[in-house]
Amino acid sequence: MAACDSSAPSTLSPAGPAARQITGLWWLLFWISAVVSVVVFVLLGRAVLRGRRAGERVNTRSGNRFVLIMGVALPVLVLAGVYVVGLRDMRALQHDGEPAAYTVEVVGHKWWWEVRYPDDGAVTANEIHIPAGEPVDLELTTEDVNHSLWVPELAPKVDLIAGRTNTLRLEADEPGEYRGQCAEFCGLQHANMAFIVVAHPPEEFRSWLANESEPAPEPDTQPAAEGLEVLESSSCATCHTVRGTEAGGTLGPDLTHLAGRRYLGAGAVPNNPGHLAGWISDAQSIKPGNEMPPQPLPSEDLQALLAYLETLE
Ligand code: CUA
Repeated sequence: MAACDSSAPSTLSPAGPAARQITGLWWLLFWISAVVSVVVFVLLGRAVLRGRRAGERVNTRSGNRFVLIMGVALPVLVLAGVYVVGLRDMRALQHDGEPAAYTVEVVGHKWWWEVRYPDDGAVTANEIHIPAGEPVDLELTTEDVNHSLWVPELAPKVDLIAGRTNTLRLEADEPGEYRGQCAEFCGLQHANMAFIVVAHPPEEFRSWLANESEPAPEPDTQPAAEGLEVLESSSCATCHTVRGTEAGGTLGPDLTHLAGRRYLGAGAVPNNPGHLAGWISDAQSIKPGNEMPPQPLPSEDLQALLAYLETLE
């Protein structure tokens, strides 16, 4: 019944060329199965209702011919047809031709997504920003176990396999937000390994990328300046990078433009000061098993840190 929730992303409401191709294949298979089922049930019903009258002779020769055509030739024909269409669609989804204008590296971690724009130096997490109406190539790798990246409304599911780089072309017709999810069981918090694809109008995307490539803005208030000191001197800096500061850890997400993100903990909670304070103090109570240890900071340090993090637009 979960599938009936119309707000959940569905492969049946495609919003990009690749998803449309898959939806076409889905409907083809659906209608073939529907016709086959109806034919089988009608024949079965007829046989059951009619039964065999006493003393009736059975024409085995026409029976054999019927089985040969309906039971062997027809299925071989239908399956061969589906195979050819499937191969055609698979080919079309592979894009071994021209590379797209943008390449985005997506690295799977237990349990979040690192998103890098290598040509521009931008690094973010759990959000893949793309220009609407333009294809973008994703290069998928994993830092630990296997994961699988799936944005049902936009593209086929592609695995992130240890020791390999897989590619996926992502394109959205219209600006909007499209939910994605890890689709390969990868441990305790597999279900909380979500992300969003944000498709911007192309101009807006370019200004987003330009901002995201910049180092963190200088703190412009006293509390924010104190917060930066807390960040640099506490264990935050061991795991997180804030470009332009002394925080250069690489275990957790890059926080350079944290304030612009919609969610914390790969879709676990919305990104607002209350949830951020809770996440910093005890991320384990929100997403048990994740790599972030509790940070019992004195209250004034926490407030300063929050004031600083809020400036990271
Ligand atoms: Cu990553 Cu499931």
